[in-house]
Amino acid sequence: MILKLNKQQIRTALEEAYDHYKDNTEGKNADYIPFLAGVPSRLFGIAACLPDGELIAVGDTDYAFGIESVSKVPTALLAMHQYGAETVLRQIGADATGLPFNSIMAILLENDHPSTPLVNAGAIAACSMIRPTGASDAKWKAITEFIEALTGSRIAVIDELYRSESETNFNNRAIAWLLRNYGRIYDDPELSLDLYTRQCSLGVTARQLAVMAATIASGGVNPITHLKVFDAALTPKITALMATVGFYEHTGDWLYATGLPAKSGVGGGILAVVPGVMGLAAFAPPLDEAGNSVKAQKALAQIADRLSLGLFNTTHGIVTEAERSLVEA
Ligand code: DON
Repeated sequence: MILKLNKQQIRTALEEAYDHYKDNTEGKNADYIPFLAGVPSRLFGIAACLPDGELIAVGDTDYAFGIESVSKVPTALLAMHQYGAETVLRQIGADATGLPFNSIMAILLENDHPSTPLVNAGAIAACSMIRPTGASDAKWKAITEFIEALTGSRIAVIDELYRSESETNFNNRAIAWLLRNYGRIYDDPELSLDLYTRQCSLGVTARQLAVMAATIASGGVNPITHLKVFDAALTPKITALMATVGFYEHTGDWLYATGLPAKSGVGGGILAVVPGVMGLAAFAPPLDEAGNSVKAQKALAQIADRLSLGLFNTTHGIVTEAERSLVEA
């Protein structure tokens, strides 16, 4: 994708979106995980990370919030990195469920057909795939080291959030055991569930998510550390998953509005990838009824519109000499 944007245009778009939505009070914090209900609802931050590593940040971009379902992106990538994209497709799948992120019905409906690593069932299955099998601590190390390589910085579990999730994750426990029933989990169900719960409880900032998004946008090279984290061939695979199911049953609405692959979490974070161009992230705790941050969605949609970032736009791309002469004629 070829886009002619300067840094000032990007900064202005972020600042305008921030100013436009900062007083929006729509939506409600997640409360089915008690810790999340207590996070200050007014927090709001937007960050962009460019291919040269420059970060443009507005608002509360240093506040560490629960990564939640955004963690499904790095773990799906790690599973692809360890096994290859085809194996992940075969063992988990790439189809949207069209149902809520924690749907049991989706597992029952698709018991002969896997779904996607970006809903709870597929994410627990992705955690189960991470090598080495059976070794909880080593698997956890692999997951966190991979996320740290993507963000280029240290991350840590928010202990209180982990406790809060562990004490209330009965639905996810049912999912893990149902996967076991259908032979679609590849390690011990309780171990896999605990890894999933722990990864959801990691604290991240909007800046860190923007760097993660930029690493994906740059084909696996972290723009800050310059380290190669994963093969460039995986960027179109993970962005395809994000585009098809990143906002669960509201994914079509999101894609229609922005044209961008992105992933939300019930902590209020959204990570959006503009392949070859930049990584974007936004954070604001109040959610819509599908579990996606209201303000973060609105702000990123305005930015995508102002900067013509949508992947389906025809306003950018390679213009051949023949086309140029037609346009200029
Ligand atoms: O498993 C759960 O329900 C949470 N730990 C994560 C769900 C989530 O973030 C859904 N995304 N919008």
